[in-house]
Amino acid sequence: MNRPILVAVAWPYASGSLHLGHLAGAYLPADIFARYHRLIGNRVLMVSGSDGHGTPITVRADQEGVSPHEIVDRYHPEIVGYWDALGISFDLFTTTLTDNHRDVTWDIFRAHRERGTIVEEESLQFYDPQAQRFLPDRYVEGTCPHCGYDQARGDQCDNCGRTLDPTDLINPRSRLSGASPIQRATKHWFLRLAAFSDEVKAWLEEQEGWRKHVKNWALGMIDEGLPDRAITRDLNWGVPIPPEADTLGEGKRIYVWFEAVIGYLSAAKEWAQIQGTPEAWRDWWQNPEAESYYFVGKDNIPFHAVIWPAMLLGYGDHNLPTNVPANQYVTFKGAKASKSKGVGRSIGWYAERFEPDALRYAIASVLPEQNDTELTDDEIIRRINEELVATWGNLVNRVLTITTRNFDGRVPTPAALTDDDQAVLDAVDRGLTEIARLIEQVELRAGLRMAMDTATAVNVYLNAHEPWKLVTSDPDRGATVLWVAIAAIAGLGVAFSPYLPFTAPTLRSMLGGIDENGWVRPKVAAGASLGQVAPLFQKIMNDIPTDDG
Ligand code: MF3
Ligand code: ZN
Repeated sequence: MNRPILVAVAWPYASGSLHLGHLAGAYLPADIFARYHRLIGNRVLMVSGSDGHGTPITVRADQEGVSPHEIVDRYHPEIVGYWDALGISFDLFTTTLTDNHRDVTWDIFRAHRERGTIVEEESLQFYDPQAQRFLPDRYVEGTCPHCGYDQARGDQCDNCGRTLDPTDLINPRSRLSGASPIQRATKHWFLRLAAFSDEVKAWLEEQEGWRKHVKNWALGMIDEGLPDRAITRDLNWGVPIPPEADTLGEGKRIYVWFEAVIGYLSAAKEWAQIQGTPEAWRDWWQNPEAESYYFVGKDNIPFHAVIWPAMLLGYGDHNLPTNVPANQYVTFKGAKASKSKGVGRSIGWYAERFEPDALRYAIASVLPEQNDTELTDDEIIRRINEELVATWGNLVNRVLTITTRNFDGRVPTPAALTDDDQAVLDAVDRGLTEIARLIEQVELRAGLRMAMDTATAVNVYLNAHEPWKLVTSDPDRGATVLWVAIAAIAGLGVAFSPYLPFTAPTLRSMLGGIDENGWVRPKVAAGASLGQVAPLFQKIMNDIPTDDG
């Protein structure tokens, strides 16, 4: 134990509110994983921040007639508010607008330029003759040359996921004027990705425990051939080019997809500075024992599983990702109005209407780890009422209520355990072992399923032994069954705690402040006084508004 674990989470563009798809895709899984590793005693550093650059920000600013900085200043605090409301436990959630991030970006740029893997090239870029501007990335849309999707953006195709250059598009159109853009020669800095293709491929091939779809995608991208990628853009919003390399002419900045991934390293350095231990970041980046996990959506696979590793190899002396457990998408079909699809609804909308652990439970139980997953409000409510409240909440509530009433608010003293008693405790212990294995493999949805199935097994045990009858018919036996149930609940409380961090301390105090000792079933002392018993979760009646009224 006590390994350094970097939990690196995708940097959301601060260009709008985030929705449940973002939460399910990256932030909630990262948080569950981080909380588990902290609990077992590892040194976790969980970092991310608002992605403040790129055309998603400038397009939005253009639309509203405000500066890009104003857009970031509006959405960054909103995003931070979601993390507070839902317990997403970042060690640092910064932005890419800091001087520190610029300096780290320059350091990596310079290292590549020195070894000749960042080079200046003249290339043809799209130019809007009406707006009289170059059209980088999302300022152009058109047909994807790979899959024929006709709404592909200049930086990436949303349909097949391939990274694009605007000039790859068939039938391109300017988003500024609708005009057909013309091509103009302009100079840019290019990253020679091909120089790393053999090394990245060999590294990818030896990775174990990666999701098949992630590894296959990354290897497929390399097999198609890695073109030189322009890493500067004709924009006046972005990390500036290092002064000695700013020789390309006016109005150029570093491309967001070159610098945003560097944020993982710059955030670790910023965190270390804030701690007053400026060298502490090295433990997660240069210690060969350290592990790093990148929680991203599947559209980010090319950048995290191929391009960022190539950038790190060129930089040298920094750890490559241990795993990139990219998630598939959450879909919101089958609803009529667009707002009621949930697509337009922000995380904040849900955070105001649901208890945080209830929302975390519903999302964690449908994480799109293997496939795209459909999610509706009805499904969220069903998961909360029929699983969280009916199985786990109810188990805790009925055991502690009967015990409080019949044993003077104390943990009863058990007589000898029967085989059935021992079997249910063994099931909890086996559950804990299996859930740990699943979480370490980033199979978080299956881990939660296992915890809930184990809670069901404890409910089955209670129904078979009926302690509510035993307390009068056979008090010694009643005491034993309730002691077993309390011990099982204490163990389940550990298993649920990375998923349900808000109710975990409430449960511990109801159990009379048990001694927790990592990822094992805690010892429950007979005679200890139980805390005030109250339901952990509220059943959702029909009063959650299903539209934005
Ligand atoms: N803002 C981008 C996105 O949301 C990039 C996220 S990951 C990063 O897709 F590490 F590159 F920032
Ligand atoms: Zn495509």
